Amino acid sequence: MIVTRTGFVAALVAAALTSATALAADPIETRKATMKAIGGAFGGVLVKMVKGEKPYDAKEAEAALDTMIAKADSIDVDVLFAKGTATGGDTAAAPKIWEDLAGFKAAMSKMKDTLPAQAANVGKDAAGLKVAIAEIGKTCKSCHDTYRLEKN
Ligand code: HEC
Repeated sequence: MIVTRTGFVAALVAAALTSATALAADPIETRKATMKAIGGAFGGVLVKMVKGEKPYDAKEAEAALDTMIAKADSIDVDVLFAKGTATGGDTAAAPKIWEDLAGFKAAMSKMKDTLPAQAANVGKDAAGLKVAIAEIGKTCKSCHDTYRLEKN
C-alpha cells in the first residue's frame, strides 16, 4: 500500500518536473502565446460585444471569460518570466519586470483575481459586461504600462 502510494507520488513528481522543463524550454514563446489567447478572448469577443460589433450572448461571453481565466491561471511568473528571458524571441517584456518582480507578480495576481470576480457581471447582460470589461481592462493596462515595451 505504502509502496504503491510512494511510487504513484514519485510518478506525479516526475511528470510535473517534465512538464515544467517543457514549459521552460521556450518561456518567451509560451508567454506570448498565452497573452495572445487572453487578448483574443478579450478583444475578439468581449470588447466586440460591448461595442455592439457582436451581439451579446451570455454563454459565449462566459466561455471567453473561462478561456481568459484558464490562460491567466496557467501563467507561472517564475517559469514564463524566468531570469535570463529578458531578451530574445522578439519579446516585448520590459526589463522593469526583473527589477521589480514583486510588483510584476502583484499585477499578475490582480488580473487573476479580477477575472473570476467579474464572472457574474459577464454573464448578466450587456451592461454587466461593460462594467466587467472596464474592471478587467484596468488590470491589463496597468501591467502593460509598466512592464511591457512599446512595439512598433
Ligand atoms: C502582470 C502583467 C500583465 C497583465 C496583467 C497582462 N499582460 Fe498582456 N503582456 C504582458 C507582457 C510582459 C507582455 C509581453 C510578453 C513578451 O513579449 O514576452 C504582454 C503581451 C500581451 C499581448 C501581445 C502578445 C503577443 O502576440 O506577443 C497581448 C495581446 C496582451 N498582452 C493582452 C493582454 C490582455 C487583454 C490582458 C488583460 C486581460 C493582459 N494582457 C494582461 C504583461 C501583462
